[in-house]
Amino acid sequence: MNSSGRTAAEGRHLPAASGTRAVASSHQRSLELRSRTNSVLTLALLCRESHLLWRPAHPTLATVSSEGLPQARTVVLRKADRASGRLEIHTNLFSPKVAELKATPVAALHVWDSGSRLQIRVQADAVIAHGDDVAETWSRVPEQSRTAYSLGSVPGSLIPEALAYESTPDAAAFAVVHLHIRLMDLLHLGSQHRRAQFVREGGWVGNWVAP
Ligand SMILES: Cc1cc2nc3c(=O)[nH]c(=O)nc-3n(C[C@H](O)[C@H](O)[C@H](O)COP(=O)(O)O)c2cc1C
Repeated sequence: MNSSGRTAAEGRHLPAASGTRAVASSHQRSLELRSRTNSVLTLALLCRESHLLWRPAHPTLATVSSEGLPQARTVVLRKADRASGRLEIHTNLFSPKVAELKATPVAALHVWDSGSRLQIRVQADAVIAHGDDVAETWSRVPEQSRTAYSLGSVPGSLIPEALAYESTPDAAAFAVVHLHIRLMDLLHLGSQHRRAQFVREGGWVGNWVAP
């Protein structure tokens, strides 16, 4: 337990008070970030290269279907840029999720990291990049991973047998989903639960909220 009443483990996972300025609210204590320090720490939790004790997890990406219904699926988080608050996911350009994101360019991302007992929920604006814009990224996709990006079989299309699909890699089927984070909601389950929300308003503004 440190001087602020937090255990070291808890302090590692939720925004620390240092580098912040408290702002009053009738319902809750608020923290406004004066620098990027805390948002960097938070985003670092999403980043596999983090210096923090982050175990890679597969987030769930949620979109809105053409019928206005929620759609969720597991993805791999390929990149998290701390400074810009952007996340990157790779997918097949012709997958339903891309069509959904083109029609309704917002998404939610969810991760539960059982090791750190941290739930991360993100709301983001989504931008799809493909073709020449992703040529450099494509060049770094390992050979064995490229089979997911084939022009022959559209993900979700009917096939006559379980293995009757094509997996010939084609850069033309490769897309990068850029997620520009609007809001992050972090819930840490400890001896006392803590929950924080960060919204992007120029810089990041963070508030403690009731869990
Ligand atoms: C562990 C795991 C990781 C996955 N990673 C990705 C990924 O990074 N990108 C992707 O498009 N699909 C990924 N998938 C497959 C998706 O969950 C989904 O089945 C597929 O993309 C089709 O989704 P859609 O029909 O909503 O477009 C992954 C599935 C699993 C189980």
